[in-house]
Amino acid sequence: MSTSRDERINSFWKQAYSDVDDGGYISDDALLNHYRFLVEKSELLSFIEKHVPKNSRKRALDIGCGNGKFTEIMADYFDYVDAIDLSQEIITKNREENKKDNCSYHCESLEAFAKRVDIHYDFIYVGGVLMYIDELKIEESYKALDKLLNREAILVIRESVMSRKRVDKISESYIAYYREANYYQKFLDSKLLEKKENLAYRTSELKNVLIRLKLGFLFHKKVYQKLLILLKLKDKLWKPNYNKLVNYYYIFRR
Ligand SMILES: C[S@@+](CC[C@H](N)C(=O)[O-])C[C@H]1O[C@@H](n2cnc3c(N)ncnc32)[C@H](O)[C@@H]1O
Repeated sequence: MSTSRDERINSFWKQAYSDVDDGGYISDDALLNHYRFLVEKSELLSFIEKHVPKNSRKRALDIGCGNGKFTEIMADYFDYVDAIDLSQEIITKNREENKKDNCSYHCESLEAFAKRVDIHYDFIYVGGVLMYIDELKIEESYKALDKLLNREAILVIRESVMSRKRVDKISESYIAYYREANYYQKFLDSKLLEKKENLAYRTSELKNVLIRLKLGFLFHKKVYQKLLILLKLKDKLWKPNYNKLVNYYYIFRR
């Protein structure tokens, strides 16, 4: 941990992961977290299948891996996966529970990792991390990504952004920057990432997935109970605090 920023983020996530399995990133409700994982898992798989040819699935990197669930998925598709996170506790837990031979976990920031290693990845996933990096430091993070990407590699960034006005949410333990969606779009347009191609830029299909689940539940024997769960989810998803915050995916090819 090199900076006080990293220390603050680390101590925040240390507490968060001890309270909730995924750190309570979207919600501290286990059911909602479960559905968030299913939605984001299907998005991640669709990006890999669509954009990474089978003969290029050698080395992948999961940045800010948290509980390692997305790392494990990537390990089924790539020869080898590295996963990094600032939180020592979650990295230790992931190492203890790791059942895959082809992935390893490192406690390091993106920026420090990029300086230390000389590896180029075919696929990099950055899920919910750039929102913790302020504008003065973000260029360093972009350069780190640029250094780590192989030629023709795919970079997927998933960020919580504001659909309307931007806010910088300040808490006692860390600061999250909920930016406008085009803030990261500007990264695509800048010269920071060499020879990039913008493949897609879109919101998560959470609503569509919920509709599909709802239709499925109509044929389930415990229909009523399941509908109640959906109503609970709906309340959580569309309550005022959440309705301006959306999940965006930015997909680039180098
Ligand atoms: C919102 S969680 C997302 C975890 C996981 N990617 C997911 O989608 O469930 C953010 C994670 O990023 C890590 N993190 C924040 N800044 C980082 C940085 N500069 N380098 C590496 N990890 C970082 C935090 O420790 C935390 O575990």
